[in-house]
Amino acid sequence: MKTLFYPLLAALTVTSVSAETVWLDDLNLAVATQDFGAPQKNKSVDGHALTLGGKVFERGFGTHADSTLNLKLDGGAQKFSARVGVDDEINKNPSASIEFIVRGDDKVLWQSGVMRAGAAAKACEVDVTGVTALELAVSDADDGISFDHADWAEAKFETAGAKTFATSGGAVLPPVAPYILTPPAPVTPRINGASVVGVRPGSPFLFTIPATGDRPMSFSAKKLPSGLKLDAKTGHITGTLPRPQAVPADAKGGYFLTHDNVSGNYTVTLVAKNSLGTAEKELRIVCGDRIALTPPMGWNSWNCFAGEVSAERVKRAADAMVKSGLINHGWTYVNVDDFWQNRHNSKDPTLQGAFRDVQGNIVPNARFPDMKGLADYIHKLGLKAGLYSSPGPWTCGNCTGSFDREWQDAAKYAQWGFDYLKYDWCSYAPAMEARRGNSTNYPLAAGSWSGAHPSSHADLMKPYAIMHEALAAQPRDIVYSLCQYGMGDVWEWGDQVGGNCWRTTGDITDTWKSMSSIGFNQDKAAPFAKPGNWNDPDMLIVGEVGWGNLHPTHLTVDEQYTHISLWCLLAAPLLIGCDMEKFDDFTLNLLSNDEVLAVDQDPLGQQATCVLKDGHLRAYAKKLADGSRAVGFFNLGTQPLNLSFSAFSPVGLAGRLTVRDLWRQKEVAQLNTANGALLLAIPPHGVVLYRFTPAK
Ligand code: GAL
Repeated sequence: MKTLFYPLLAALTVTSVSAETVWLDDLNLAVATQDFGAPQKNKSVDGHALTLGGKVFERGFGTHADSTLNLKLDGGAQKFSARVGVDDEINKNPSASIEFIVRGDDKVLWQSGVMRAGAAAKACEVDVTGVTALELAVSDADDGISFDHADWAEAKFETAGAKTFATSGGAVLPPVAPYILTPPAPVTPRINGASVVGVRPGSPFLFTIPATGDRPMSFSAKKLPSGLKLDAKTGHITGTLPRPQAVPADAKGGYFLTHDNVSGNYTVTLVAKNSLGTAEKELRIVCGDRIALTPPMGWNSWNCFAGEVSAERVKRAADAMVKSGLINHGWTYVNVDDFWQNRHNSKDPTLQGAFRDVQGNIVPNARFPDMKGLADYIHKLGLKAGLYSSPGPWTCGNCTGSFDREWQDAAKYAQWGFDYLKYDWCSYAPAMEARRGNSTNYPLAAGSWSGAHPSSHADLMKPYAIMHEALAAQPRDIVYSLCQYGMGDVWEWGDQVGGNCWRTTGDITDTWKSMSSIGFNQDKAAPFAKPGNWNDPDMLIVGEVGWGNLHPTHLTVDEQYTHISLWCLLAAPLLIGCDMEKFDDFTLNLLSNDEVLAVDQDPLGQQATCVLKDGHLRAYAKKLADGSRAVGFFNLGTQPLNLSFSAFSPVGLAGRLTVRDLWRQKEVAQLNTANGALLLAIPPHGVVLYRFTPAK
């Protein structure tokens, strides 16, 4: 059988310093695989001097967990030595924890044990006599890769005269040529996107009818409640709705009611018309306390621009969301992440300046000269605008946070016109300790995040509850996205502090390891997903991503199909993380399959769980509002998986079923679960995504 692994071998021409010593940094390190940043010669992963426990090292290999560097020693070396640890550049962040592992011919020769920030370098001395293949690995110590900056300092070999060694990275799947599965949308009108939307009484309403089909197109709506108006040319519905007058006794979770406008439920028929035809679709508008009745869909600046974001770039992202046609598939939010504020001790002049004005109002940095203008610009396009802050004094990027200024900040966001807030934990723990008098360290210097994270729910909930109250008091709906990486099982209490969504994990990166280990481990949180409350496995990593260092995603084409299918099954917030000005046809196609997106946006709001594990096969099933099931069959292995599938009970439906392939948007089978079978052909790390509907 054809093997799917291939080593990234690099030919080398460098010579060693002496016949006896080969320095690791003289070898080709660029081929190392790692889950964040790029391999560095004689520098840390962020480009600083290699520093461990306060000591600076001139030479070595700076990397980031999970990292693999393979060396072909072929018996040519006797000894490997290095000084290893977590680089000081992460300022003692408690999230860092890594383990260095040296393997020779697949046997573990040396392990550092778990190492944390601030610790002195550990000496690694390994006898490698006779070893053919040596692997230098750094693992995330099984707790995610956040802040796992790893140094192999002073790393070198003693050899019997060898001058160099070939290097390669960890095993990766070979690239797969992009293939497009989604058929083009018809030229006749079709209305896509969510079928239910929530708004609070009196809040400005904005909904853009997402419709594909030839332009020009005109829009109308039947039974649009008074208070709302529709622009026939743009399809933008705006206005406000009054507080419902009476809520019937059976209206618990009133968003499921359709019968009665008195309850605040309005069933509107949207109409889109072009010269070739007319389409209609029902939209339920629910005026009440709850918003985000389907998972938010949009874009966020972090995974592409990180600390290089600017208002200009955000406006261009908004333009791209319209020009690319994504707006016609329900994509709505354009969210600014960290770095719109000024930054503590920044060397970048565009991030220098007052943190707050004399009244205490937060001051945006020079790259964001007009916040209201930015939000207005986004709204004019029919889109919504999002922002980022932290409950601590400093954000994760050392910019101004909201500690003690929550009400003032929330009011500002609303005045500017923002519709979404991501609220990121960083620096809250030490601030809380200081406030309790356990430290004299407040106001905190930026980056002093060494306070232990609280373990009590009350402490974890407190800062989120405060900001919730402040947001809820604003005359505008602001989707509230909690970001604290899942601490204290946030899914269990996120709703109590007003969260509409909450991150369940540390940061995602564009590798199979990162995406799959997050995506396939969400079952614990599944029971807590419902309209208005979504588990957030972090933002999308398709397209050109790179956290300020753009590159095409490291996921293969099949891994990208898996990523989007899985996130839709999980009813996850869908926030595009790439530079939308750099869309290629494949990426755009991935993000504009309306049948796949409908799985995410299904109004029942259930999250898929794993219903079958068999070898490398995983099946995830999601119950949909019409009684059908969306099922993803995933192949976690590195070989194609071909199987005849007949054990239908995990799908949760029995009898005669219609099976539709959602990526290809076509029916693939009619079967009876009693005796039928489906032939599944799933590529390595790939998926087939089906919808099973009881036959009429
Ligand atoms: C991280 C967060 C990222 C991004 C970043 C900004 O904590 O998880 O998604 O927001 O902070 O500094």
